[in-house]
Amino acid sequence: MKHLIKPILFIFLPILLLGWVKDVYDLKIPKGFPVPIIPENNQLNNSRIELGRRLFFDKIMSRDSSVSCGSCHKPELAFTDGDKLGIGIRGQKVSRNSPTLTNVAYNRYFLMDGGVPTLEQQIIVPVQEHKEFDFHFALIAHRMQKDSSYVQSSRKAYNRKPDAFVITRAISAFERTLISGNSNYDKFKYQGKSNALSNSEKRGKDLFFSDKLKCAECHTGFNFTDYSFQNNGLYLNYLDSGRMRLTSLESDRDLFKVPTLRNIALTAPYMHDGNLATLESVIEHYEIGGKDNPQKSKKIKGFKLKESEREDLIHFLEALTDSSFINREINAMLN
Ligand code: HEC
Ligand code: HEC
Repeated sequence: MKHLIKPILFIFLPILLLGWVKDVYDLKIPKGFPVPIIPENNQLNNSRIELGRRLFFDKIMSRDSSVSCGSCHKPELAFTDGDKLGIGIRGQKVSRNSPTLTNVAYNRYFLMDGGVPTLEQQIIVPVQEHKEFDFHFALIAHRMQKDSSYVQSSRKAYNRKPDAFVITRAISAFERTLISGNSNYDKFKYQGKSNALSNSEKRGKDLFFSDKLKCAECHTGFNFTDYSFQNNGLYLNYLDSGRMRLTSLESDRDLFKVPTLRNIALTAPYMHDGNLATLESVIEHYEIGGKDNPQKSKKIKGFKLKESEREDLIHFLEALTDSSFINREINAMLN
């Protein structure tokens, strides 16, 4: 027996170590991007991310097993759904348009009114909302516990059986990997490829960043948002009072978080209620200068574009699509 110990250690120790090493996830940070903050108690590894991805697309999360996170956040649409308003269980419409989860790891707060401080806490919202999953963590965990592969993955990822802790941590770990920074614009701007943008896209970029259009006064930085709350004059009278829903402050009436514009060509329809169907209609909105809502930002003033300039601007917005990210996520979902 004794003479076997050495060979066993020789063979199995490296395998064990390799397994441990392999479970380290290498979060690739695109050039020009900062490193996102990953909470101390939910560091990324492959087991956590894989469990989170499985849960994200699993309909057992909803009461009647008809909807998953992925029903409203589809990879092929940069994690939106193409509908004006998100559609939850029993075909019920929620009150807002499903936002992209592109680069969600960088958000300082979540939801359009900024009411939720962490990704882990955000998951509680769709799980309990009557129009989304209308469900409870204990019941999701119960369903997972009946599936030995879930129990196994849960132990591997967090060293405990499926529960609310595991569900919220694993899905958040997965969401933090949805980093997209390899669009043609990124290749041009951060990767030194001066011909990654066409001439029209370059002209559109210059318009976007110009003093005349002022888009980059709100849609700024590597993620095309300053994360502030603004009114862009969509309506005179809003049905949804935006950040005021959270704070009850009159000064927050009709303000919404400035959204990222990454992968914007894939995420129609636009705005908090999905009321603008196309990028053309968005540009038309800004050209007119929106409606005279008393809360409207001074930066929204309107401007005039020639037909060819309008096309250039749209071409630039389309150059923010990162197809390598989208394809990677579609493939990971199918596997
Ligand atoms: C019925 C459609 C629907 C389902 C199902 C759904 N979401 Fe959402 N999601 C939305 C809508 C709509 C919003 C915007 C809500 C708001 O801002 O008030 C949103 C917002 C978010 C945000 C905030 C993004 C940001 O930029 O602030 C995250 C993160 C998110 N969802 C993740 C998830 C996860 C994880 C699940 C599954 C547990 C899920 N969603 C299920 C529709 C849905
Ligand atoms: C004062 C800040 C501000 C400026 C300037 C601004 N935007 Fe916006 N933008 C916003 C806000 C806030 C929203 C979300 C509004 C809502 O949900 O109702 C938004 C939404 C959008 C959307 C839709 C995003 C989505 O996911 O639905 C697009 C596209 C867009 N803006 C493009 C532009 C362009 C192009 C310009 C320049 C012509 C511009 N914006 C200027 C604040 C601004």
